[in-house]
Parts: sequence; C-alpha cells; structure tokens
Amino acid sequence: MRIIKGTTYEDMSRKAADVLAAQVLLKPNSVLGLATGSTPIGLYKSLIERYNNGELDFSAVRTVNLDEYRGLPADNDQSYNYFMHHNLFDHINIKPENTHLPNGLETDAEKECARYDAVIAAQGGVDVQLLGIGHNGHIGFNEPADHFPTGTHLVDLQQSTIEANKRFFASIDDVPRQAYTMGIRTIMSAKCILLVASGKDKAEIVKKSFFGPVTPQVPASILQLHPNVILAGDADALSLI
Ligand code: PGA
Repeated sequence: MRIIKGTTYEDMSRKAADVLAAQVLLKPNSVLGLATGSTPIGLYKSLIERYNNGELDFSAVRTVNLDEYRGLPADNDQSYNYFMHHNLFDHINIKPENTHLPNGLETDAEKECARYDAVIAAQGGVDVQLLGIGHNGHIGFNEPADHFPTGTHLVDLQQSTIEANKRFFASIDDVPRQAYTMGIRTIMSAKCILLVASGKDKAEIVKKSFFGPVTPQVPASILQLHPNVILAGDADALSLI
C-alpha cells in the first residue's frame, strides 16, 4: 500500500487528483471507477481545474460508478447520477454515453445487477477505482456483513449509513433505505484502488481498515489484500496510523 498524505483536505484532494490525472494522461481511454460522498468533491474540483487549463482531455475516458440509491430518478438532486453530473461530468468533456451508474429506478434487482455487471465487464476492467470510506468501513454501499459480497447487489443500508447521509436530505425519512452497489470482487478487480479519507472522524476506521484484521465486518479491510492500493488522506484522517 502507498500512502499519500495531504496537510489539509485541499492538499490531499490535489494529490489524489494527481493519480487520476496521470492515469488519464498515460491512457486517454482509461476506465475510471468513480465514487460519490463529500470526500471526493475536492478531487473532482481539481480535475475540472486541470481540464479548464487544457491539461486533461476526457473525451475517450469511460467511467463506472460504485453505487446508486434505489428508488431515486436520475434527475433527483440526491441521486448519485445527479451528483456526478453536478460535481464532474457537466464540467468536463466526457461523453455522456461513456458514463455509467446503476439504474436506481429498476425495481427488478436481479435484472439490474446483471445488467450493471455486464456494463462493467464490457469496459474491459477498471483502471483506477476511487473509493471513499464510511465510518463503519463500508466501501461503495458494501456494509459490514458476514461475508464479502461479490458482484453488483441490492443492499439494505445500515442505520448508521442512513444517519450519516441524512444531512443531504430534507428529513431522515427521505433517505432511501436501499441501494445498488458494486460488489467487493468487482472493486478488488480494479488494477489500482485509490481510497480518499478526510477528517478526524475517519481516523479510527482508516486505522482499523488498513492495519486491523481482514474481516467482512470491516469491508474496507479487504483492500489489504489488493496489490496496488493508494490511501490518500489528510493529516486528521491519517492521524492514528
Ligand atoms: P463521505 O462518505 O465521503 O461523505 O464521508 C464516504 C462513504 O460513505 O463512502
């Protein structure tokens, strides 16, 4: 594992963006696995800046996102589809047809999971998978469990995740209870994994995930078994390691 330490959130975001920028420069038709949540926003801003400066070209880049709430249409401002457009896609020259997310409106879970796994496979593999980390160690929406789920699946969100995400909704009752998420096998199949973490409240789970036992009770701990992981954190998130 490599560790990239940022002094601040902005510094960490810029350094983490360097990894994705280098990937796109070296392989213009890269497949980027993307993540939502508050942590990657600074990284996306930094990529947009580089695009605006003429340093990056996304015209051949393809993306697959980790997850999507079930039940929210793409134009709902809390859907991850909306988030990606608002925070990245609408500001760079990526082709909409090259961006992929699970379809939160598909009610047939088996069908949607099979479709999304086929979409990911059709890209020929993810070059760099960006991840945030939940306070409970979730990656994507792979919540603590008795086993590591493999492919795309429908999950019931844990109460702690619903609590953590309620800040984005008018009330806790509006937070969707289920989501489609890439599975652990798919995440682990990426050639490189870039996990970003920020803030003191993430320090404990970062330590547990990267230096504690590998267990599905801490889904991110599986990353210890990946040969090419980069942990990018600000000083607070890395303060216990
Ligand atoms: P956050 O979410 O970046 O908003 O803390 C991370 C996650 O839950 O994966």
